[in-house]
Amino acid sequence: MRLDRFLGNQTNLNRNDVRLMLLAGRVSVDGSPIKEPMHDVRIFSQVRVDDKILQHGKPARYWMLHKPQGCVSATTDPQHPTVLDLLDAPDKHDLHIAGRLDFNTSGLMLLTNDGQWSRRLTQPTNKLAKVYYVETEAPIDAGYVDKFAEGFYFAFEDLTTQPAELTVLDSHRARLSIVEGRYHQVKRMFGFFNNKVTRLHRESMGPLVLDPMLAPGESRTLSADEIGMI
Ligand code: URA
Repeated sequence: MRLDRFLGNQTNLNRNDVRLMLLAGRVSVDGSPIKEPMHDVRIFSQVRVDDKILQHGKPARYWMLHKPQGCVSATTDPQHPTVLDLLDAPDKHDLHIAGRLDFNTSGLMLLTNDGQWSRRLTQPTNKLAKVYYVETEAPIDAGYVDKFAEGFYFAFEDLTTQPAELTVLDSHRARLSIVEGRYHQVKRMFGFFNNKVTRLHRESMGPLVLDPMLAPGESRTLSADEIGMI
């Protein structure tokens, strides 16, 4: 929210008084004096007027989980274990999932309470590659590569998928890099060839790679470097 609006809501001062207060240098955000009315205030920002703290600011939190197969990418589910059940994090119910995975897909899952950060990670326009290891029921032939690069028409969304890079590893295994995250996207792409995906594992999202030290079901917080990469 804009700083002037935030101050108006919190203090009941009118717009003019808020501007005067800003110009007088009485307002600081995260310890720095701010005079700019448009300055962005987030739930993580500490906002102070003179010596009075108007908002303490929540700590931003970022987790990496090795999602196992057989658990739901949701925060609650009446039937199955969820990714949140696996996380041993304080206030875990404030977190949301940045890029869901299907019930039987394993691999890198990121959870955070920072909506701007997760949007940067998942927005198709940012074109961050999501890399999947794939196993299939039928053989993968060389003709697949061009079709993945060309794109698939998805009638339900009325769109053609962005160019994807398929690397064939052997007759039934491939590595796929896509920049979107449409519903069941990888399975639907292979479905074009009537080829069922039998194993799907996400290895990375943009520069963030699943930590090889994490066994399925294990998690850790992201380092400051990893957070800054997005
Ligand atoms: N594509 C799928 O089909 N499933 C996933 O879980 C992720 C990408």
